[in-house]
Amino acid sequence: MASTNVKKQEYNVDRSARAQRKGHRALVLWFVGLSGSGKSTVSDALEKFLYEQQIDTYTLDGDNIRMGLNKDLGFTAQARSENIRRIAEVGKLFVDSGTVVLTAFITPMQQDRQRAKDILGEDYIEIYVNCPLEVCEARDVKGLYARARTGEIPNFTGISAPFEAPQHPDIEIKTHEDDIQTCVQQIWEVIKTKLTSTL
Ligand code: ADX
Repeated sequence: MASTNVKKQEYNVDRSARAQRKGHRALVLWFVGLSGSGKSTVSDALEKFLYEQQIDTYTLDGDNIRMGLNKDLGFTAQARSENIRRIAEVGKLFVDSGTVVLTAFITPMQQDRQRAKDILGEDYIEIYVNCPLEVCEARDVKGLYARARTGEIPNFTGISAPFEAPQHPDIEIKTHEDDIQTCVQQIWEVIKTKLTSTL
């Protein structure tokens, strides 16, 4: 570990004070799924739904974060691992601030998801956006699958890099079978009591 001789500083205004003022607790809604599965689309719709109910939210999105905080990271297994670790730590800060975080990262490896869970504890809610590779590839919203097939983009998840499907997600949605609002409702049914439970 690079940082030594550091000690946690406690502050008067803590997480529970913030939750009381906001009227809800904070969580990290961690969307997992292939590129093109609908993570960002569902998370966007869910965030709008939560926002309309006066719930404070913030979205951390793979493509966007990779243009800033994580622009030094590529797509090797090691870089993806570090990507996820940093997002889990950022998510932890947001949760402490009282904000409900929605994350949209492929998060292809079980080991990396486990580490995010270890960092976030019971605030980690895993949402598997289960959509078959064929459907994601047919959608090819960003044109990346076609480029991955020719080998122009190496290490592409689902084509030339692994995706380990979550075995025990807290919530599973199927964007090829259900429409976006149905997916939002399925998620809401699971999280609504958690959001109002006391800390
Ligand atoms: S993760 O594997 O580290 O979780 P992340 O969600 O941050 O990935 O980034 C995925 C996004 O980066 C995709 O939606 C896609 O737009 C873009 N991308 C670029 N190269 C790759 C690649 N080799 N594999 C997967 N996605 C890629």
